[in-house]
Amino acid sequence: MSISHPVPNDKLYLEQVKYGKDEQQRRKESPIFVSGDEVAKLLETNRGVYMVDPRLGFNNRTHRLFVSKHVPTETQDQLQWKTLGHRHTVEAVIHWLAGKGYSIVDGVRYDWEAGDFINVPVFAWHRHVALSKEPALHVASTTGPLYMGIGQAVYEDERYPEYWIYAQQGEDALRTLIPGGAVMEAEDDGHSEASRLYAEQVAFAYNEEHRRRAGRVLVKGSELKFESTAMGNLAYVVDSRLGFHAKALATVVAEIPPGKRSGAHRHLYDEIDYVLAGSGRCIVDDQSFEIKKGDTLAIPVFAWHQYFNTGDAPLRILAHSTRPMLENLGLVLTHQGEHADH
Ligand SMILES: [Fe+2]
Ligand SMILES: [Fe+2]
Repeated sequence: MSISHPVPNDKLYLEQVKYGKDEQQRRKESPIFVSGDEVAKLLETNRGVYMVDPRLGFNNRTHRLFVSKHVPTETQDQLQWKTLGHRHTVEAVIHWLAGKGYSIVDGVRYDWEAGDFINVPVFAWHRHVALSKEPALHVASTTGPLYMGIGQAVYEDERYPEYWIYAQQGEDALRTLIPGGAVMEAEDDGHSEASRLYAEQVAFAYNEEHRRRAGRVLVKGSELKFESTAMGNLAYVVDSRLGFHAKALATVVAEIPPGKRSGAHRHLYDEIDYVLAGSGRCIVDDQSFEIKKGDTLAIPVFAWHQYFNTGDAPLRILAHSTRPMLENLGLVLTHQGEHADH
């Protein structure tokens, strides 16, 4: 294909220059609050519900949030709820809200119960099996939108083999965490720096696969350690600095005691918050939202946000962000405003 109609430089360049300002307006107009009551209603008749996704009009461009229910299979395992195995080139952090069971991630079994977390490495086959009588429920954030934006989102699901891209290329391609497989080790002939640098590039996928398999996957809810920060009491859950092979996503849980407030801050990364427990109020720039367990807030890029616990139980917020990705891109600005009063 060739370009039949070249466009004068001025027009395209001016569009680029205007983009930042236009984007600020789009952010202002994008939805923020998603009602947990409405999600619960949809879940009665659906297996899953997307709460935040750019395809639904949200301005969060790098990740999404959805909830999935694990329903019984008709024939086998009457007490079990399953999803079929799949893998994707996007990162995922799953939090179990209800139920008990196990997940097979890249061939390893991890037992979980409500309150636990699973970090799914890129392109690891995973399958969730519930062992409890009640349906298992998880809320998950993935970097799907980011990977769709760069043309690299590949989902391979055993229910839809007609859409497989890599998995049909044989046993090795099925087992690897690297799309297409990674078998090349470094072949540096030692003759020049360029030769070494290029050999490193070729070997990257091979080494990356080993790094991914060495990363942490399971976090038990009982392991969460809340510690005092300017933003309030935070438990770091999934973070590349804590041994997880997570390049884009990061997950924390914040806990605000009754009558107290979190800190206020704003940052250049996308954030999606889910209310795990309690009730209160959330300020996002010039808007205020009454919130309770089950609600979701899509925090736009660089919007000030702060939580207030107006209830009589601890307010717990599950916060997913793409901070690590933005740090890798060098877009790292975080402004700290008012501090938490703990
Ligand atoms: Fe998945
Ligand atoms: Fe934040």
